[in-house]
Amino acid sequence: MTTEDTPRAADVVLQARDIVKTYGGTRALKGVNFDIHRGTVTTLFGENGAGKSTLMKILSGVEQPTSGRIVLDGEPVAFATTNDARDHGIAIIHQELSLAPNLSVRDNIFLGREITRGGAVDYAEETRQTRALLEEMHLDVDPSTPVGDLRVGQQQIVEIARALSIDARILIMDEPTSALAAKEVEILFGIIDELTSRGVSLVYISHHLEEALQVTDHAVVLRDGTMTARGDRAEIDLDWIVRHMVGENFDLGSPPDGYELGEPALQVQDLTVLDPESPDRAIVDGLSLDVRAGEIVCLYGLMGAGRTELLEAVAGRGEIAGGRVLLDGQELDRGGIRDRIGRGIALVPEDRQRDGLVPTMSVGQNLTLASIRRFLSRGLLSRVKEKALATSLIKDVTVKAPGPQTPIGALSGGNQQKVVIGKVLATDPAVMLLDEPSRGIDIGAKAEVFSLLADHARDGLAVLFTTSEVEECFSIAHRIIVLRRGRISAEFGPDADKADVMAASGEAVAT
Ligand SMILES: Nc1ncnc2c1ncn2[C@@H]1O[C@H](COP(=O)(O)OP(=O)(O)OP(=O)(O)O)[C@@H](O)[C@H]1O
Ligand SMILES: [Mg+2]
Repeated sequence: MTTEDTPRAADVVLQARDIVKTYGGTRALKGVNFDIHRGTVTTLFGENGAGKSTLMKILSGVEQPTSGRIVLDGEPVAFATTNDARDHGIAIIHQELSLAPNLSVRDNIFLGREITRGGAVDYAEETRQTRALLEEMHLDVDPSTPVGDLRVGQQQIVEIARALSIDARILIMDEPTSALAAKEVEILFGIIDELTSRGVSLVYISHHLEEALQVTDHAVVLRDGTMTARGDRAEIDLDWIVRHMVGENFDLGSPPDGYELGEPALQVQDLTVLDPESPDRAIVDGLSLDVRAGEIVCLYGLMGAGRTELLEAVAGRGEIAGGRVLLDGQELDRGGIRDRIGRGIALVPEDRQRDGLVPTMSVGQNLTLASIRRFLSRGLLSRVKEKALATSLIKDVTVKAPGPQTPIGALSGGNQQKVVIGKVLATDPAVMLLDEPSRGIDIGAKAEVFSLLADHARDGLAVLFTTSEVEECFSIAHRIIVLRRGRISAEFGPDADKADVMAASGEAVAT
């Protein structure tokens, strides 16, 4: 199939033709043709930086193309703003959460298109509709809760609910499930089925390839701003996607070997963290675990199992109700995050937008932010050293960026994640905690990040990482610890059965 042949017009609701987008010197899209099929799901695959989000931003009015045409139901259209696109029935769920943290769930959902009655905002009606939407998504939070108080996964559900409330006929989902647990993904997939059966046309983007295949009717692969392949569901499989994405086949790797693990670097003993919302419930419930120097441990569990809370408590964030954290056999006092970084325990947080990066700074500044002390000589910052380190870090973590001065916001999602990891590695930690490090990272970048962690493990770094993709546990971990309701429910070696690991987490295993 070539990019030129056009499916029957009646099946195609939107055609993008010869779309070019340049940002300064970067050609993000180099003349892409893309069709959205009516009442079905078109999935868009491609590595980090391939141009997926850029194309979707153009189709939803967030960005304007440098050149090219958009034809909607046979009519040429141009969207100057997201409101224009929305007026044409196009909505988008953004990859990077775009909610206002200080506003309530309800106000976020109706921001810019408030329901009014007699000239005033009809809050009661907005609340009612918000409740209905949240119920549809099985999210049990009050519409008046500030979005900033929600977990990332819950925020993502609110983002989805907002797009659903628009009642769009074309709905674009850019990485909608990256922070969702398996159950929530199932709920979303149910909604996707319902939407397509009502005739809504969907575009779906995800780096979770197996998951995306489940909803795919048509697949399109972008590579370096060019469309490299297109196929219907019956013609494609995982290999097909990976081959066209990266031009080769490869797997995610295996646990690093050929060296002896050291003594326990990190010891967690009887750690308890209470749920701030209902303090009679322990999110982390008297939990103990060790990670040895050179060891990579995968912490697997469903959302709400306590993974994030455990890592944050170890990293020195938030209150702990009991227990101890030891580094190299020495008990650490209750210092905060900064103190723990100084001791050698560093966290790559789940939400890079909120905790990992400073959006107004450059790539280089973000990379060196946490290790800046190293560049002070007699109280003055050595810019030269800082720049040299930034440049070498960019290379180390294979960030695709023109240079250290590039603004962080100009990087694709996956490359931003690599910057967060590089920033933490620059602090030269003894223990590295990573909360969903592969969120939003393509398969090639995942393999690169994992091999980077493996290299540092060989040098004695103790690694504890969480994931909701069970395959990833098997790719580099020496040991898999399964967390369920704040406790360890099982432990496995790298030769365990995937289904057993999933079952231990409480996840339903498809048979
Ligand atoms: N605002 C911007 N300014 C400059 N360059 C940008 C901007 N937005 C995107 N780019 C560049 O355009 C290219 C495509 O980025 P895009 O975000 O579309 O990738 P993507 O396929 O969505 O990747 P990911 O899987 O990581 O989300 C990248 O090289 C990126 O750095
Ligand atoms: Mg993207």
